[in-house]
Amino acid sequence: AESAQRPTVIWLHFQECTGCTESLLRGSHPDIGRLLLDVISLDYHETVMVPSGHQAEKSLHDSVEKNKGKFVLVVEGAIPTADNGNFCKIAGRTAMDILAEVGPKAAAVISLGTCAAFGGIQAADPNPTGAKGVQDLLSGVPIVNIPGCPPNPVTFLGTVLHYLTFKRLPNCDNLGRPLFAYGRRIHDHCERRAHFDEGRFAEEFGDYGHKNGYCLYKVGCKGPETFSNCPAARFNDVDVWPVSVGHGCIGCTEPNFWDSMTPFYER
Ligand code: SF4
Ligand code: SF4
Ligand code: F3S
Repeated sequence: AESAQRPTVIWLHFQECTGCTESLLRGSHPDIGRLLLDVISLDYHETVMVPSGHQAEKSLHDSVEKNKGKFVLVVEGAIPTADNGNFCKIAGRTAMDILAEVGPKAAAVISLGTCAAFGGIQAADPNPTGAKGVQDLLSGVPIVNIPGCPPNPVTFLGTVLHYLTFKRLPNCDNLGRPLFAYGRRIHDHCERRAHFDEGRFAEEFGDYGHKNGYCLYKVGCKGPETFSNCPAARFNDVDVWPVSVGHGCIGCTEPNFWDSMTPFYER
């Protein structure tokens, strides 16, 4: 009876690298085992599901029909729209077709990763495949964006648990990102901020300032323009994030960061 109450999640992979799933597989709070066995019922996910081929397709269609209007749809990856969407096909159908069929039947959609939220690297100029985010193609269903390349698993898990607890998606900013995770700039809670305020900067990679934790702004850090919880949430219980290990933030939670945040390195 308990398993019958677990909410159904359907996960579609489109034009992407699977990095979002890979990072979730290393997630905790809850870990992936507990998430799948106790919290949700993951009916379709190409990376972790047992069926393949026709059986996998059957799982998808059976679940969509059985749970119409009730399931949570997670999308990982952008949707190519050029050439009728021919750049991404699964089981002979385009990502565009699959999203158009499954998306309107979901209770809510989580666009996981900058690809699904905003198009990601595929959409970088000149965007040859016409890659778009889910919100550009789907309307009439609540959509939340969890950008990042990949996003922090705790942000995704927090969003899922919020939805299960309160039966609605969390409050979001004007880009559809949950405020609990994207409400503050990287720069405003970065451990190198005191160095920025005092004018102590790494001038190039490997110099004295870089080795001693000085601010990375002059070597390209985009923390002042990027909204995310990375300095506070850290990653996967190893207590690091890009800036703590000496790499500037490249703005991976922001729309079109491949165009708007480049060059990533200033030295
Ligand atoms: Fe990969 Fe980044 Fe896209 Fe996630 S957002 S699928 S990590 S390219
Ligand atoms: Fe801001 Fe980046 Fe410097 Fe941190 S390292 S204080 S985020 S500019
Ligand atoms: Fe991305 Fe910047 Fe965090 S590059 S992972 S938003 S530190």
